[in-house]
Amino acid sequence: MRIVSGIQPTGNLHLGNYLGAIRNWVAMQDEWTAKGGTCLYFLADLHAISMPHVPADLAANTREMVAALVSCGIDPDRSILFNQAQVPAHAELQWLLNGTARTGWLNRMTQWKDKAGKNREGASVALYTYPVLQAADVLLYQATHVPVGEDQKQHLELARDIAQKFNNDFASEDAPVFTLPDPIIPPQAARIMSLRDGSAKMSKSDPSDMSRINLTDDADMILQKVKKAKTDPEPIPSEAAGLDGRAEARNLVGIYSAMSGESVDDILARFGGQGFGAFKPALAELLVEQLAPMAARYRDLREDRTALDAILRKGADKARELAIPTLNATYAALGLVRG
Ligand code: TYM
Repeated sequence: MRIVSGIQPTGNLHLGNYLGAIRNWVAMQDEWTAKGGTCLYFLADLHAISMPHVPADLAANTREMVAALVSCGIDPDRSILFNQAQVPAHAELQWLLNGTARTGWLNRMTQWKDKAGKNREGASVALYTYPVLQAADVLLYQATHVPVGEDQKQHLELARDIAQKFNNDFASEDAPVFTLPDPIIPPQAARIMSLRDGSAKMSKSDPSDMSRINLTDDADMILQKVKKAKTDPEPIPSEAAGLDGRAEARNLVGIYSAMSGESVDDILARFGGQGFGAFKPALAELLVEQLAPMAARYRDLREDRTALDAILRKGADKARELAIPTLNATYAALGLVRG
């Protein structure tokens, strides 16, 4: 088992990241490192430069994200925690894979279409080739499993297509260069939606902070955000089918279910028939209770820049080692002479 995943250090860790991905990172670390598996978790700082950014903020956000991940349960002694910028093999492999990825494949990426919008000509080349770097991130380590939220599924499918085509074009059938990775997407929390709009995913790039719950929000802020969360005037249904066509209600019940481990049916049996007046404070309480210990650890850790830099250095040393065999095999398969 090789488990690999990444997160962009573009600001605060929010509930969508946590329930969609990070919680699974921790669970997979706890399960698989004990059985001899390897977990590599990284900050996708090279991906972050695909959008306009402030360099000083990127550096600060990178360290803050390390603190957030460790607070959520990533253990740098068991998992390899690092940032891409300290492992040049990511960027190298991306270039090598650029010869295999097709522009037609990249043109179909929904994230590229969404982020570039109507201004394709003005978008960075990095935004366009972003999914090739993402493929390099996982193929470099022969990842078998990649825990992500639903929104990254298409990028993972592209990584498989690139691996498959490279193996077909440049390797023999019995000695493929790349392993095809499987995405691991949590069933109850694949897509956590914005608290202000049930049709948009909860996201760091939403201009309204009221749209998301951040790891750093205090109890008052969480209560306020949940109370103000958009709902509809209908009472909470008693059965799951009653959530059809009610994106906001479905999202809040889904968050409750993901946080408590209770089934949607059980939650609806308890709250069905009531308005959101009783449900919202219960949801806020659950969020506060579960997020508070992580938030407290985060507040302590984020100030310790020396410790955070040491974690990244140690992780990068290990990642660089693990990257060597695949990188060498890729150069060799392509006929590139390196002395
Ligand atoms: P990023 O930084 O946007 O998000 C990090 C992880 O959080 C998940 N996620 C969500 N899950 C459920 N609901 C949401 N509202 C929500 N918002 C975010 C994402 O699916 C992701 O798993 N391109 C990636 C980073 C990346 C990566 C990789 C991931 C770079 N290289 C290689 C996996 C493997 C990204 O921008 O994720």
